[in-house]
Parts: sequence; C-alpha cells; structure tokens
Amino acid sequence: MADIFERLIKNYGPIGQHRERAHGYFAFPKLEGEIGSKMKFRGQEMIVWSLNNYLGLANHPEVRKADADASAKYGLALPMGARMMSGNSDLHEQLEAELAQFENKEDAILMNYGYQGIMSAIDAICGRHDVVVYDAECHACIIDGLRMLAGHRFVFKHNDIEDCEKQLHRAQALIDKQQSGGILVITEGVFGMAGDQGKLKEIVNLKSKFSFRMLVDDAHGFGTLGKTGSGAGEEQNCQDGIDLYFSTFAKSMASIGAFMAGPKTIIDYIRYNIRSQIFAKSLPMPFVVGNLKRLELLHTQPILKENLWKNALALQKGLKERGFDIGKTDSVVTPVYMKGGVEEATLMVMDLRENYKIFCSIVVYPVIPKGHIIYRLIPTAEHTQEEIDLTLKAFSETKAKLDAGAYKSEEIPDMANK
Ligand SMILES: Cc1ncc(COP(=O)(O)O)c(C=O)c1O
Repeated sequence: MADIFERLIKNYGPIGQHRERAHGYFAFPKLEGEIGSKMKFRGQEMIVWSLNNYLGLANHPEVRKADADASAKYGLALPMGARMMSGNSDLHEQLEAELAQFENKEDAILMNYGYQGIMSAIDAICGRHDVVVYDAECHACIIDGLRMLAGHRFVFKHNDIEDCEKQLHRAQALIDKQQSGGILVITEGVFGMAGDQGKLKEIVNLKSKFSFRMLVDDAHGFGTLGKTGSGAGEEQNCQDGIDLYFSTFAKSMASIGAFMAGPKTIIDYIRYNIRSQIFAKSLPMPFVVGNLKRLELLHTQPILKENLWKNALALQKGLKERGFDIGKTDSVVTPVYMKGGVEEATLMVMDLRENYKIFCSIVVYPVIPKGHIIYRLIPTAEHTQEEIDLTLKAFSETKAKLDAGAYKSEEIPDMANK
C-alpha cells in the first residue's frame, strides 16, 4: 500500500517543484508597507503592478477609518454563528440590500469568500438532471463548483458564441432525452488573466433560441466597468439578462467577502440552501461595515474609476506604441505577451525587480504553453504617470535584452529565502 505523504513529497506539483529556488521571490513574495502603487520588496521600494486594488480603496482614509472604528466597536467575533442560526444582523441585511440595488437586482446574499461562495452556490442551484454550459477559461472556483455537480456539463471554447450555441444544443438534447432538468450557462464578466470581457450580451441574446439561466462571475468587472461601476452587465447593457450576478469583494472593494444578486425568490432559495454559508460562521461585523463604506465610495466617488481608466489606457497605449502584444483586453487588466523559456522569464523578472524596481506578476509554463511568457499588469487609480513612464521604459529595455538572448540560462536562479 502506498503512503499518501510519500507520494506527495515525490512530486510537489508544477510550481511547487521550483520552490527550493523560488520561494519568497518568484512565488510567495512578501510585499511590505502600506498598500499602494509603491511598496517594499526585500527592503527595496518598487512600483507594484500586482494588486487588484483597482480603485485604490485599500488605503483610502475613509475606508481605513471605517475598518478601524468597526473593529474597535465590534471586534472580529460579532456576530457569532452562521447567519441562519445566530449570526445575522441589520448591517448584514443592509449590505445585501445596497448591493442588490447597485446591481439592479431584487435581492442579494452575502458570502464569506468568493471562491467557496460561488462553488457552493452552483451546488445549491443545480440538481442531478441539470446541465451546465460554461466557458473554457472560467476561474478555478467555477471549475471546482462543477466538480460537485451531479448533472452534466458541457464546456464551450473561450468566448466562442458559435461553440456556446453548439453546447446549448447538446444540453437541450440531453434534457429532452432525460425529460427533466434545466440549463445554467456560466461565464465571467472579465477574464482575469487576458482581460477580455465575456460576451455577455451575445449569450443573453441566445435566450431567444434556448431556455437557460445565466450566472456571471464579475470579479474583475465589479467597480471597474459600466457607467456606475456596477460591472460588465451594465457595460454591455445586458444586466437584466443576467439571472445571477456574482462578485467578490477581494478586488475593487479591497476587502474580503462576496455576494450573489438576482431575483428575490431565487436568492431566498440560495440563502436557505447554500451549504458554505449555512454551515459556516457569518462574515464578521468589521468586514460588513468596511464593505458598506467601500460600496458608498464606489457610488459617490466616480473619480476613482476615472483615474483607474486613465492609468489603464495610458499603460495600454504606451505598451502598444512600443510594439508590445497586449492581446484582446478590453478591461483594465493588462497582459503583456512575450516569447521565452521559464529560465529566461525568471532572469528577466529579477532584472526588473533588482535594477528597475518594478514588481509585476509573471505567468509561465505550465500555466500557459511552453515558450510563452505573460506579464500580468494591474493598473490602479493610485498609479502615477511617472510610474507608468518608468515601467514602459523598463519594459522596452528588458524586452530588448530578452530578444537579444541576454537572459538565456540553463536554470532558474536560486532566489529563495534561506
Ligand atoms: C474570477 C474570480 N472569481 C472568484 C474569485 C475568488 O474570490 P475570493 O478571493 O473572494 O475567494 C477570484 C479571485 O479572487 C476570481 O478572480
């Protein structure tokens, strides 16, 4: 018989295999100091492009005060217990009502975390005869939610409406055969890696041909897209066709928690059947109060979103002018596609950090195909034009070195914290 632990330590997984040289530098780096466009990494101040603090709310003085006051007043314990049993409060319900109103839906339910919340919501909504049709690039939390699905699932090629329609035909045929069940289509408002918006409007339009319900994870669209910032549904003018709208608070809201908004009857059903909330302690009061304050600022300070977009567009324009490939982004998420091996990528990241003082996240094989490198840049409302200019200059110089083979190496450098 095999020992499970022995098997684990023989193979630490695609990224874990590099941990001895990478830990603390390429993986699990520590950014220190106040959250902002400049933070300290290993004692050096860097321009940071890795934080989903889109609107710069993390350190907004009103947010910090609301967080601190609520922590002093309530502590982290209140309310004790799960919402259903003993953990409900007027403020939890107020936040739900405000989120529903913001999203132009009848009701909303709070969740402690986006990841487990959406997984559990999929589990609560779908029965064994239901069929889920979903985009191939949906986030891991959706894929994990589908792992619990007793019914069937059909995946469509990323943002490919023709293929989506094909999968809807398959789903419909299966349901006809079973003579029971319904269809749930799941996609995202903004795909967080490439920054392209989900084709929500086109999927909503398929409702004229097929009968289905639609769930959208708008983690990156909430607060960043649409006239009022209510997300990709508003941006694409199809919010009414989205039956269930979901977002985490971990990005624009710079906090913790999540919500799902939709028709009152269905949100009530979820409220009474979502296992990750029924069997878990409710969101502590400081998070509820802090999220209420963030939502208020999101409403009342459109300048935050304007600054975010000003910076995102300046960054994206500058990259394109310098000949960088930024793919199909139509959100503020800014990927930069380059060619090179994993070893070269790590040396380039080191050069950027050590010599140019630029900190950004990098994606390489096996997350993406071999020979490709993606820098994933997250602009925020707080970045300055000077920081954008320095970053563009650094990228041009390091890309020239990459193309000239200056980073060629046989192995990943040892940068781990010893
Ligand atoms: C698209 C998407 N959905 C859900 C989540 C998970 O949210 P949370 O961090 O609140 O668990 C993330 C990442 O944070 C995400 O990018």
